[in-house]
Amino acid sequence: MTKKLHIKTWGCQMNVYDSSRMADVVAPLGYAPSETAEGADLVIFNTCHIREKASEKLFSELGRLKPMQQDKAAKGERMIVAVAGCVAQAEGAEIQRRAPYVDMVFGPQTYHQLPEMIARVTRQSGGVLNTEFPPDSKFDALPQQRNGDVSAFLSIQEGCDKFCTFCVVPYTRGAEYSRGVAAIIAEAEVLAANGAREITVLGQNVNAFHGEGPDGAVWGLGRLLRRLADIPNIKRLRYTTSHPRDMDDDLIAAHRDVPQLMPFLHLPVQSGADAVLDAMNRKHTSDDYRRIIDKLRAARPDIALSSDFIVGFPGETDADHAATMRLVRDIGFASAFSFKYSRRPGTPAAAMVQQVPETVQDARLQELQALLRAQQEAFNQSLVGKTIPVLFDGVARNDSGRHEGRQMHGRAPFMQSTYIAAPAAAPERLIGHELAVTITQARQSSLIGELAQAG
Ligand code: 5AD
Ligand code: SF4
Repeated sequence: MTKKLHIKTWGCQMNVYDSSRMADVVAPLGYAPSETAEGADLVIFNTCHIREKASEKLFSELGRLKPMQQDKAAKGERMIVAVAGCVAQAEGAEIQRRAPYVDMVFGPQTYHQLPEMIARVTRQSGGVLNTEFPPDSKFDALPQQRNGDVSAFLSIQEGCDKFCTFCVVPYTRGAEYSRGVAAIIAEAEVLAANGAREITVLGQNVNAFHGEGPDGAVWGLGRLLRRLADIPNIKRLRYTTSHPRDMDDDLIAAHRDVPQLMPFLHLPVQSGADAVLDAMNRKHTSDDYRRIIDKLRAARPDIALSSDFIVGFPGETDADHAATMRLVRDIGFASAFSFKYSRRPGTPAAAMVQQVPETVQDARLQELQALLRAQQEAFNQSLVGKTIPVLFDGVARNDSGRHEGRQMHGRAPFMQSTYIAAPAAAPERLIGHELAVTITQARQSSLIGELAQAG
């Protein structure tokens, strides 16, 4: 009998990837994914701890689950409730104390042991807490990915040794670890055989990748991308998320040499002020960042850039904030994420004395976001009238109400969602194909166009 599995995911691509792998791990036990928690046999909350109020959100979601779990128990059935991810890692004991009806709490390094944990929960009463960093790698124990998506994620690296002073990742995800090249290539080949045309390799610090190659040498990310580009049918490659310190020359050269590597890079800078970068322990200056961007643009002139920013880091002055604004103006970003600094207990920055008042943080965030929004709009507008390759991945949900009839969804090289009117006959045939689209209209974060060639 199939059992209902509901997974709710917060946070980064890594968590999205982890969630789909958890679904793969429990599939052989008869669990099939369900959109809702109602009546589910297993509910997993895959949590993120990186900013604001993660644990409050979790406890309110758990509270909503409790009556559903009791309803099921009244019918003599069981709803297993699990909390996974970085909040689980950081606050495992607290979760078990405040929500004792949670059956399993486990960190990001242990989800390959899910079948075992489920067995333990079903056999005995009392919960399971599994937030070790086990000696066996989950990557060696996971089944092959099964999804048939056009655009697939592949995790190649995990953890972080950088210890930026604001960030919990080194504590929740553990030390930097790279998978071996042979296993990565094998997984990429399976993905391609199942229909993937675009692969995004993932890691908290993906460009710190240093996996063991089949030749016994240590491979960097540049070399890995060149090898992945040799796999038949892989038309597009991307990687995320990177650190400026690890943008080595070979990786930059890959942007010049590997046509499959898309002209888009998310490269977090956090701040444009050297004093703040120093206090953040970023180990690079604002000029280092500018130089990297210059090299990237020399290697791949059409590359579009994205970044992460934190405003209101402890000690940030008006002049520091102005330096961030200047950096943004100088570089020009196609998209970006920006956040107010949020104090994470246990990180060095949480103990810094000069915390910036929230009203100041708010004002700086607004100013920065207005500029970033304007740059994004201008970038999207600059594509109107141009013909660009779009990789189609599905028939769009028509939720905007702005369009008549069905639409096809795809991605531009620069990551924007791109929509065209679906051809009348068998629009699904476009899925998995990269076709030339002439952009007719730009929106804040998406594009609208029409096929420039017969579909
Ligand atoms: N406060 C605000 N933003 C943060 N980020 C990470 N930790 C914090 C924090 N404590 C942001 C950084 C990072 C992105 C994933 O989240 O900008 O690049
Ligand atoms: Fe966090 Fe810094 Fe590591 Fe990124 S590089 S995961 S921001 S510690």
